[in-house]
Amino acid sequence: RQMSARRLMVGGNWKCNGTMGFAKSFPADVLNKLKFDPKKVEVVVAPAALHISTVQSVLKNNVHVATQNLSLTGDGAYTGEFSIAMVKDMNISYTLTGHSERRTLYHETDKDVAKKTKLAVDQGFTVLACIGELLGERESGKTKDVNNRQLNAIREECEDWSKIVIAYEPVWAIGTGKTATPQIAQDTHAEIREWLAANVSKEAAASVRILYGGSVTDANAAELIAMEDIDGFLVGGASLKPAFHQIVEACQNAK
Ligand code: PGA
Repeated sequence: RQMSARRLMVGGNWKCNGTMGFAKSFPADVLNKLKFDPKKVEVVVAPAALHISTVQSVLKNNVHVATQNLSLTGDGAYTGEFSIAMVKDMNISYTLTGHSERRTLYHETDKDVAKKTKLAVDQGFTVLACIGELLGERESGKTKDVNNRQLNAIREECEDWSKIVIAYEPVWAIGTGKTATPQIAQDTHAEIREWLAANVSKEAAASVRILYGGSVTDANAAELIAMEDIDGFLVGGASLKPAFHQIVEACQNAK
């Protein structure tokens, strides 16, 4: 990859995993020992919401904390939700939106994802907005249509893309051990950048970071980050393991 102006990013998505013990030990044993230059690599972890304050109390290494989701509603009679005001109150300024598990298992629509993205951007958050196609969609040649549909929904809500990071996560590669090859990921990232140039601005196409997600491990991170349009990773399974260290290291060492 040519040295670009884009700062790399590695996100760790813990999903619904971990115990209080893990929320103390993993930041102490792994995250506080990561070696990276925050000017080159931005590192963010998204624990389950219940574990966030524990993680925050242990972290001391320029690692940021994110929520995995947010509520569209504010404070009030919304049992089971947490508002963005509560998230801000915890000094958090990063969130994921539109993870495929939210879309598939909890029926979030493109519009819901776009509105959550807008809400968070308006509150000054950096948003890792997730997009990506299902296996059948890739096999029937619909990848670009699906990604563009998900991106268009966000574009309809958001004018300012300076705080949006796109996480391209082909659903067939999530948790399956099937990583997109570096070339497949690169080709899709390049299409996303073309979409940005045509639909947002040339400036956004040059500056918006596009992360790859889906079975990223310490074994494939270096070859993926070598690709021109891959600006980092959103990591699930491997973000719960010491291998997260090597993934951050691969980004720190990227040429
Ligand atoms: P995985 O998950 O790394 O376990 O495939 C990625 C994600 O869902 O963000």
